[in-house]
Amino acid sequence: MGFKIIGTGSKLPQKAVSNAQLATFLDTSDEWITSKTGIKSRTICTDETITDLATQAANIALANANLNIADIDLVVCATMTADYAMPSMACCVLEQLGGACPAFDVNAACSGFVYALDVADSFISSRKAQNVLVISAEMMSRMLDWNDRTSSILFGDGAAACVLTAGDSLKYINITATPQIAPLFTKASTGNNPFANHATDENIFLQMKGQHVYKFAVTTIQQEINLALTALNLQANDIAYFILHQANTRIIDGARTRLKLPPQKFPMNIEKYGNMSAASIPVLLDEMVRHNTIKSGDMLMLIGFGGGLTAGTAVLQW
Ligand code: UT7
Repeated sequence: MGFKIIGTGSKLPQKAVSNAQLATFLDTSDEWITSKTGIKSRTICTDETITDLATQAANIALANANLNIADIDLVVCATMTADYAMPSMACCVLEQLGGACPAFDVNAACSGFVYALDVADSFISSRKAQNVLVISAEMMSRMLDWNDRTSSILFGDGAAACVLTAGDSLKYINITATPQIAPLFTKASTGNNPFANHATDENIFLQMKGQHVYKFAVTTIQQEINLALTALNLQANDIAYFILHQANTRIIDGARTRLKLPPQKFPMNIEKYGNMSAASIPVLLDEMVRHNTIKSGDMLMLIGFGGGLTAGTAVLQW
């Protein structure tokens, strides 16, 4: 027993910020950002909270699944940028939806969606839950140093949700961590603890060794694809779409060309949204569902990779 996805939804902030707009206050250019990342624009929260966006995405997913919040047995939210450190975003969304069931967050950075799917699968397979609402929502804009051109140009805000129910769509799932903090991290503040000996004014914005993460990502994507294909005894051509974490078009193209696969198998929307961490994969999945890109029976390989360093791969037959 595993799961199938019976409804998807997504919600992006209203405000789109172009590369040219960033160049008005950062020493950067549309040419540099486009050629190095493939990003042209990103959506950034202004008045919206990330809880609002997550709730709207969840409502759309529930409607598409023809279920009510009362039908949901578990809410798992993949995020590292929730509105509250406590309670969880899953609880905040559940309050807005008017439901009551177990609800908690998963933090696996950009791999969060696949991690959350694995958690949901465990609950469904052990019959602790029949229907699970999986949400991925990130407000990366609150984590960035907007004076740092090396990181702030990469990210965006957004939310997506999926409703899962017992079924046999999931063919493979694998989550991993090879722990290394230094390449990609955001430090938590010590608050106003009068006993803390370490500095309380240290940098609490996202810090990244771009080239290290880049190499990790390209290598990991290839490894994850090969592992999954071997486990399933499939060829790359058997996969209709590789739905990868949208970190950088060069990362995705680099892995794809090494595997000698055509671009049509690697859909991307990073041009419009930037890197939305855990929300990237399910926002893209929802777009593909809405555009009827995915046909019944298609094999989809979802691959997340990022801070931790974490990675996760799921293969679903739609
Ligand atoms: O979800 C995972 C999250 N992280 C990632 O996916 C990041 C993965 N890494 C990357 O995507 C790439 O490493 C970046 C796009 C971040 C950077 O590309 P790069 O080819 O690794 O560039 P670089 O860091 O080697 O920088 C090249 C130059 C440097 O100038 P100098 O030292 O050669 O004079 C940078 O200072 O580009 C400069 N630079 C910029 N110039 C204009 C760095 N950021 C910018 C910028 N605009 N925004």
